Amino acid sequence: MDINMDTIIKDCDSRLRGKSVPVPLPLSETDKTTLMDLLTYVRESTDPQLAEEKNLRPAVGIAAIQVGIPRQLLAVVVDEEDKYGNPVHYEYALANARIVSQSVQSAYLKNGEGCLSVVDEHAGYVVRSARIKVKAYDLLQDKEITLRASGYLAIVLQHEIDHFSGILFYDRINASDPFAPIADALVIE
Ligand code: CO
Repeated sequence: MDINMDTIIKDCDSRLRGKSVPVPLPLSETDKTTLMDLLTYVRESTDPQLAEEKNLRPAVGIAAIQVGIPRQLLAVVVDEEDKYGNPVHYEYALANARIVSQSVQSAYLKNGEGCLSVVDEHAGYVVRSARIKVKAYDLLQDKEITLRASGYLAIVLQHEIDHFSGILFYDRINASDPFAPIADALVIE
């Protein structure tokens, strides 16, 4: 499947508001191919030359519904730093990812969020959980995993898992006061 900015559906398309269904395990060949295509998009999207050639917009994650497939499949590629300032690289190709627990503390990205399916800018704090525990099947590790995520990775995973429920990032912005202070929130640069 060719995934690029022409084939990614936008938020004017009501399919993005529908629910995605869990997929059977072991994964079918079709679901595996979809997951690898999603992962390839995210990996290639941050290479300026490939992005230019293939009409990709840089991203850290994508969900299958963004190419019109209402199945619980997502891919993320995240680079951040651990608490000691060392670079960490995360890559996941997940089926049936679900949040099983979350912190009371909230978090948001200081500069807001974007989405491959959203063309217009929506400024404001997108309030999420600071820490989450996710269960999923990871195709890259070929096993069921329990993932404890915090910081930027936690935000990205929540954004993608929201797509399974038809939720877009700007739904989580306070419409009447987009930059209203969030008590005790972790601010992610
Ligand atoms: Co998105």
